[in-house]
Amino acid sequence: MKNEILRLQNVSKYYKDELIFKNVNLSIKKGEVISIIGKSGCGKSTLLKCINRLEDDYEGIITLNGINTDAIDLTELRQKIGMVFQDYNLFEHLTVMDNLIIGLTKIKGYSNIKAKEMANNILKRIDLVDKKDKYPDELSGGQKQRVSIARTLLMKPEIILLDEPTSALDKEMKESVLLLINELVKEDMTLIIVSHEEDFVKKVSDKIYKLSKNGLIESKE
Ligand SMILES: Nc1ncnc2c1ncn2[C@@H]1O[C@H](COP(=O)(O)OP(=O)(O)O)[C@@H](O)[C@H]1O
Ligand SMILES: [Mg+2]
Repeated sequence: MKNEILRLQNVSKYYKDELIFKNVNLSIKKGEVISIIGKSGCGKSTLLKCINRLEDDYEGIITLNGINTDAIDLTELRQKIGMVFQDYNLFEHLTVMDNLIIGLTKIKGYSNIKAKEMANNILKRIDLVDKKDKYPDELSGGQKQRVSIARTLLMKPEIILLDEPTSALDKEMKESVLLLINELVKEDMTLIIVSHEEDFVKKVSDKIYKLSKNGLIESKE
C-alpha cells in the first residue's frame, strides 16, 4: 500500500499457553494517528511491545517500511519505533538534561555539545528549561512525561507508541501532556496511542481500533 509504514499480519500472542490475542491485522500509513482501546488486560501493552520487539515471542509478521522487524537490528528498530510508557521510564539517577542526551550521545553518536544544544531546544518547547539540572523525582508527573516524550522525539523516530501516557496523571497534568501529543499529531508524526481519554482519542485519531482476543476491529462509534 502506498505510504504504508507499518503492517501487522496475523499477529498472535500467547503467554505460556494462554491466548492473549490472535490474528491482529493492521496497516498504518505515514502520518496516521491510530488509537487502540480495549478493556484492562486485553493485551494493548503487549501488542505495542510486539511492535518494537520488547516482546519478540509472537506469531505472525510485523513489517516496518516493508521490512520484517525481525530482520532489523534491535537498537535501530527501537530508534525508529519510539515508545512512551505510562510510568515515564526515565533514568532516576540522571538529571533531566542527561536523560535527554544519553540516547543522542551513546546511540546516535552526537557530541555532547551538539546533544545539549538539541536537548535545550526541546526543553524550550516543553517549557522545562529551568528543570534541566533536576532529577526526575524533583518533577511532577506531567513534567516527567513531557521529558519522556521529548527524549523519544530527540531520537527522531518514524513511529511513536504511546502506552497510556496520561493515566498516571491528575487532571491539570494530563492537559499539558495531551497538548504536547496534540502538537505531534499536527506535525504529522505517526502515532499509535493507547489511552482511556475518550474525547482526546476521538479528536486526534484517524482510526480507532478495539482489541480483543480475536484481534483488532475498527471502532466507528
Ligand atoms: N509477564 C507477564 N506475566 C504474566 N502475565 C502476563 C505477562 N505479560 C502479559 N501478561 C498477561 O497478558 C495479558 C495482557 O496484558 P497487557 O498487555 O498488560 O494488557 P493491557 O495493556 O491491555 O491492560 C494480561 O492478561 C496479563 O495477565
Ligand atoms: Mg497496558
